[in-house]
Amino acid sequence: MKIGNDIYYVGVNDHQVDLFEGQYVVPNGMSYNSYVIKDEKIAVMDTVDANFTEEWLGKVAEVLDGAKPDYLVVQHMEPDHAANIENFMKAYPDTTVVANTKTFTMMENFFRGMDLEGKKHIVANGDTLTLGKHVLTFVFAPMVHWPEVMVTYDSTDKVLFSADGFGKFGALDVEEDWDCEARRYYIGIVGKYGPQVQKLLKAAATLDIQTICPLHGPVLTENLGHYLEKYDIWSSYKVESEGVMIAYTSVYGHTKKAAELLAQKLEEKGCPKVVVCDLAREDMAEAVEDAFRYGKLVLASITYNGEAFPFMRTFIENLTERNYQNRTIGLIENGSWAPTAAKVMKGMFEKSKNITWLENNIKIMSSLSDENVAEIDAMAEELCK
Ligand SMILES: Cc1cc2nc3c(=O)[nH]c(=O)nc-3n(C[C@H](O)[C@H](O)[C@H](O)COP(=O)(O)O)c2cc1C
Repeated sequence: MKIGNDIYYVGVNDHQVDLFEGQYVVPNGMSYNSYVIKDEKIAVMDTVDANFTEEWLGKVAEVLDGAKPDYLVVQHMEPDHAANIENFMKAYPDTTVVANTKTFTMMENFFRGMDLEGKKHIVANGDTLTLGKHVLTFVFAPMVHWPEVMVTYDSTDKVLFSADGFGKFGALDVEEDWDCEARRYYIGIVGKYGPQVQKLLKAAATLDIQTICPLHGPVLTENLGHYLEKYDIWSSYKVESEGVMIAYTSVYGHTKKAAELLAQKLEEKGCPKVVVCDLAREDMAEAVEDAFRYGKLVLASITYNGEAFPFMRTFIENLTERNYQNRTIGLIENGSWAPTAAKVMKGMFEKSKNITWLENNIKIMSSLSDENVAEIDAMAEELCK
């Protein structure tokens, strides 16, 4: 695949990966993207995952068509992109590796035996590299989402090589909506680093960008404002869609019944969107994504050995470690002798910024009482205000 006049896509699709980054299910696989810029000098942008060495080197060789690459630009050292640096250098030993100081330190730690003596080109933030027509500018993006990350702007074709930014789950031979899997990827993997992403977006706003080439997911060529707007919302922890998410845990079904009754009442009252999620059975990353997407969240948990149920605790930890903020939360607890789940759940948000707590919280003793049903109605009313 060709992007513009001189840029070639040489990435691979992975349908074998069981868990991406050791925790994310990827039903439609994953792509590891890599690019070749063919100019007077030839630059290869990043490598791919360790399981795709031969396929990737084959694609690179095909594009090179007998020519020798001059540069290997390493934007990010995470092994899904950087695993083949040593293999590449064995295949093309005269190549110069272009990276920043932090990247080279990590490279030495990942590839203990690799000798890059005389083959390193160390770049500083804002440095440029001229390939011929193409001039590459390196923009550091620390903690988006590793410290060494940099993105690369090609001012000739107006292409931003965005590293993991603007990436998504899903291989490129499967058609699917960008927003949903890009959101799950962003919130899960980068969500903690909103201020750093905001900084990168500010730098990007000064550039004329017509194409975004990420390291995962499709090359973005049209309607770039849409993707930039999504990134701005996600990284500033703003509410993306009006609606309520009800996340519950239930062993014997009574708390589930409360969650479903609340959803029904909300729908009856015209709530724009209601999402109900069984935290024990649904994908945790999808649940976390929804919590960040909507403005209001109701947590419904049984009391379990004096705590909230384990899946609920994991869910809340996933939110707070990603700086969950600027949201409204309501609480439903259940217990057969001494319900304490609500207190535990609220306590877990102690350090979260700008959380508005609903006035109507609900305590269920084993099963829904008539009073609980009325309380659920009041909670729905308050959520719809
Ligand atoms: C292993 C276990 C531990 C529990 N610990 C508590 C507890 O510490 N305090 C309490 O009041 N109820 C406790 N319960 C009772 C449940 O919170 C209660 O039965 C609840 O009604 C179950 O709701 P459900 O039908 O949605 O599963 C426990 C239940 C189980 C299975």
